[in-house]
Amino acid sequence: MSKTITFQVQPGGSLRGEIRVPGDKSMSHRSIMLGSLAEGVTHVTGFLNAEDAISTLEAFRAMGVKIEGPVNGEVTIHGVGKHGLQAPEKPLYLGNSGTSMRLLSGLLAGQPFDTVLTGDKSLESRPMKRVTAPLALMGAEIVTQENGTAPLHIKGKAGKLQGIHYDMPIASAQVKSCLLLAGMYAEGETSVTEPAPTRDHTERMLNGFGYPVQREGSTARITNQGKLTAARIDVPSDISSAAFFLVGASIAPDSDVTLRHVGINPTRTGVIDILRLMGANIEVLNEREVGGEPVADLHVRSAQLKGINIPEHLVPLAIDEFPVLFVAAACAEGQTVLTGAEELRVKESDRIQVMADGLQILGVDAQPTKDGMLINGGGHIGTGEVESHGDHRIAMSFSIAGLRANGPITIRDCANVNTSFPEFRDLATKLGLALTSF
Ligand code: S3P
Repeated sequence: MSKTITFQVQPGGSLRGEIRVPGDKSMSHRSIMLGSLAEGVTHVTGFLNAEDAISTLEAFRAMGVKIEGPVNGEVTIHGVGKHGLQAPEKPLYLGNSGTSMRLLSGLLAGQPFDTVLTGDKSLESRPMKRVTAPLALMGAEIVTQENGTAPLHIKGKAGKLQGIHYDMPIASAQVKSCLLLAGMYAEGETSVTEPAPTRDHTERMLNGFGYPVQREGSTARITNQGKLTAARIDVPSDISSAAFFLVGASIAPDSDVTLRHVGINPTRTGVIDILRLMGANIEVLNEREVGGEPVADLHVRSAQLKGINIPEHLVPLAIDEFPVLFVAAACAEGQTVLTGAEELRVKESDRIQVMADGLQILGVDAQPTKDGMLINGGGHIGTGEVESHGDHRIAMSFSIAGLRANGPITIRDCANVNTSFPEFRDLATKLGLALTSF
């Protein structure tokens, strides 16, 4: 991670062709966690071989789980059962991965051993109280830094956690998943109500492993009365990675791209809805269900986008796609307004400020607000040098902006593209983006 990587994109061009982007990050994390706790051998295909998912995989290896792969997206997990994890010898280092840290904190709170969770500079500055506070209500003992950040020192409280009902103050799939995983080790029922729908891969995958999770409106319920039985998991392509090409092919003239086997779980498709409201030409083809998750091929062609007021109910359903949606807004005729998205300020970077700074450097009229952004689009995207602040999705978004720029764009600090999409440069250049790295 110490190696600095700079991207440089030459202006213009179109995107054309057919690709399959790598596996879904959220599902890859969960496949390792649940496969490890299952009885029997779980086979995963389509696994994301990228740093974040590998952080989860290595954490479970360190807790005594035998895991083979990934080789060509295949992973074999020799599950140890719900009570079979062993104390790791060292702190578990989770790199840049917020999902690993927040989900593991719930899972580890009810184990018969103590653990320490650490991460890189970005992860160790992200808010963890959102999980440690409700876990404390369940009887967990987790010591954070003074401001609630990692390293997290988790005392294993096997047999001592108590189920709670928790009304989540923010719409967060990580918080919901953390509490459901803790609920597998708690006395009585644990239930979580979300203020708006968030990704439900944890609930679906738990059910796929035969572990009962009840869903009633906006509430999910779980108890410790269940077990996980090994399963086959086919991880579809990550719609959050596909999003770069949904936007790229929309904004670049003469583009025609097909993205194969993309996960289109309705809690993840906000990016398609928002782009369609902006006038994008996206077809959802060959819809099918694979292992309890809906999948399709996405066909996208160039379109003249228009600015919109982004409906707030779509925000959690597109939460990781806003950096590239801001690029779409910069290319759209008229004004785009995003509100209700303050969560973007506590992602891998402050995605409101960092995108506004970069877009302004490129001459785009982008005004950050407390909880969103106001972009007057339709002008030119200029040339210049922008900072990704080590945020993978910022780096890839500014690469896509090159398609409509009037000069080269240099993007600093891009090594973390490897956390979610190591093949980005290769696939993007295959489609026609003039992107180099050094
Ligand atoms: C994720 C949930 C989201 C998302 C993150 C992955 C998950 O985070 O931004 O990239 O896998 O549960 P929040 O729960 O903080 O919204």
